[in-house]
Amino acid sequence: MRKVAEQESADMSEPPQRLPASGQGSLQERSLRYVWHPCTQMKVHERIPLLALSRGEGAWLIETSGRRLLDGISSWWVNLFGHANARINAAVGEQLHVLEHAMLAGCTHAPVVELSERLSALTQGELGHCFYGSDGASAVEIALKMSHHAWRNAGRPRKCEFACVRGDYHGESLGALGVTDVPIFHDVYRALLRAAHVVASPDARLAHTGESAKEPARRAAADVERLFAERSEQIAALIIEPLVQCASGMVMHDALYVRELRTLCDRYHVHLIADEIAVGCGRSGTFFACEQAGVWPDFLCLSKGISGGYLPLSVVLTRAQIYEKFYSDESARAFLHSHSYTGNPLACRAALATLDIFDTDRVLERNRARGAYLDELLAPLRQDPRIANLRRCGMIWAFDVREDAPVASPASTQRPSFAQRYFAAACERGVLLRPIGRTVYLMPPYILSDDEMQHLVRGTRGALDAALAG
Ligand SMILES: Cc1ncc(COP(=O)(O)O)c(C=O)c1O
Repeated sequence: MRKVAEQESADMSEPPQRLPASGQGSLQERSLRYVWHPCTQMKVHERIPLLALSRGEGAWLIETSGRRLLDGISSWWVNLFGHANARINAAVGEQLHVLEHAMLAGCTHAPVVELSERLSALTQGELGHCFYGSDGASAVEIALKMSHHAWRNAGRPRKCEFACVRGDYHGESLGALGVTDVPIFHDVYRALLRAAHVVASPDARLAHTGESAKEPARRAAADVERLFAERSEQIAALIIEPLVQCASGMVMHDALYVRELRTLCDRYHVHLIADEIAVGCGRSGTFFACEQAGVWPDFLCLSKGISGGYLPLSVVLTRAQIYEKFYSDESARAFLHSHSYTGNPLACRAALATLDIFDTDRVLERNRARGAYLDELLAPLRQDPRIANLRRCGMIWAFDVREDAPVASPASTQRPSFAQRYFAAACERGVLLRPIGRTVYLMPPYILSDDEMQHLVRGTRGALDAALAG
């Protein structure tokens, strides 16, 4: 590893006179030449250097320069038990020598069967059928298609519209983007998308003075009822991000909303899809966010943390009543959807190791103690006049930097936005954090020690001072 670091710094000291051949130059230079990075205006990297990583170790990412960054957002919310986790490594390593992959159509294998049994048991058998995809967006596509197809098989082919919630994010493929209401991702592709009905936000911050978070939840549910009363004959499903709308800025709502939606979906015969891709796997405080509402959806999408952040894996859990709609002698009634890596054994084995850690380490219980300590460390921010809405759901913390705090416009690649300044300032303090607009959030892995939590909060607060000063 040291060799790589030395090579890196030696290369960087040479003036870039002409375009080097592949393999020459620093990792950052080579990456910018050949890799098109996701969700990135590539031109910003003329000014903001990529983080060139050499390895991961627990909650830390280590750059080729040797700088250590505490991964405060679990590498886009996927990494639950740290990088290079010995137990997940061992499980994937063992599986590698047994069966790396086989198609799941017409074949099966122990990892996918065991994982499906365990996920079904986690829903007490309510959602007993598991259909696998690769990443989050593919799970959303599966749920949307399955919902319409189930209605079609039930003799209701007109149910081919979807509803989503203001501010929802469900992924970047065209179907998932169609039920996404985050303008920066959605608007450019509007002409390609099938528009969904967008219902009011249950955002707890919409509570008027003297109201609890239940009031905006009730108002938002009333909006859903208005829509259903008018269009339920055409609507196949309503998709939600239960408890926290993550990508639009960790927007939190009361569990009452999910409960009310379950009642409305039953009353109006509309499927409820819970996208737990970000909030599942303990992130909300319970293993599934829907548990806090005491209801099960018709489809539950999981991804991100399910493989411990190791390998792309997603799964849609659904009920026997849905499954039965497809079970027939006719192949046209079957769900003829597939991805080449569906149910990949390595990814399923990583997921089984992840579930083992939940059990053996009593993770949900220990996260309550970790969460309480992080709350305590963040408490002084409540008095900080520059921020508002310090909030928490399980292992997600967020606060908004006030409008009147001196935040630069994010519109230009020339002038760093607040989020860009904050990111740079956090890195200087040994913490990896990427605010969403003016919302700073923490979504750490579930393994932080007290010292690491102190480091994270020092970095969070120091970066705030620096970003607002800069
Ligand atoms: C709630 C939610 N749904 C879907 C997705 C899409 O997942 P992926 O990026 O793996 O396609 C994400 C990703 O952030 C998400 O947060």
